[in-house]
Amino acid sequence: MKILPSLLSAPFGRLEESLRSLEAAGADVFHFDVMDGHFVPNLTMGPLLIENLQPLIQSQFDVHLMVTNPDEQIPWFDFPSVRSISFHIEAPVDAANVLEIIRERMKKTGIVINPPTKMEALGSCLEKVDQVLVMTVNPGFGGQKFHPEVLPKIEWLAKRREQLSAQFLIQVDGGIGEETIRQALQAGAQEFVAGYSIFGKENAPEAFRNLSRLVGD
Ligand code: DX5
Ligand code: ZN
Repeated sequence: MKILPSLLSAPFGRLEESLRSLEAAGADVFHFDVMDGHFVPNLTMGPLLIENLQPLIQSQFDVHLMVTNPDEQIPWFDFPSVRSISFHIEAPVDAANVLEIIRERMKKTGIVINPPTKMEALGSCLEKVDQVLVMTVNPGFGGQKFHPEVLPKIEWLAKRREQLSAQFLIQVDGGIGEETIRQALQAGAQEFVAGYSIFGKENAPEAFRNLSRLVGD
């Protein structure tokens, strides 16, 4: 069980100091939201930021691509500190091909699914993927309200994994805080992305430690 602080809500004016304080509290993977202003109605950060942060911190990055063309952008994120790269099943690309592009770069492969999308859309990708990120808000912005109606999708994934004897990690992203994290944990999630509920607090490392305690890490 792991909490992944999401940079989307981090204080950009003092990013290094803030990320280091979370590392001291035990964080070792940061969630990195890439939005292209097309697939989602917002723009965020790109590879340049990872390149700049990489020498300053020890942690790895979990890259979440909310972009229309993940196949073209994945090579831009081929840094040693990038642990995993995920793209949306809703993106207009051949998912099997995109998984291959990630795997060729020796990164963990991830697929993301939005609240309205049926789990069946993941199809045979579930047999090949390293992690599945279940969105519990519609992507685009931090600090949104958790959609509890998505919880059965996490349960479905955990069952499906058993049926397939697959190994993928189940991640959850959106509206995760002290209340909702328990529900996601119970449903079967193993990695929990949290933005506002960490960086929105006065003491972010303490908020991180409290969430970690709730998932028994
Ligand atoms: C939303 C992003 C999330 C976001 C979560 O589109 O994918 O990673 O940072 O933020 P919170 O935890 O504030 O809902
Ligand atoms: Zn995200």
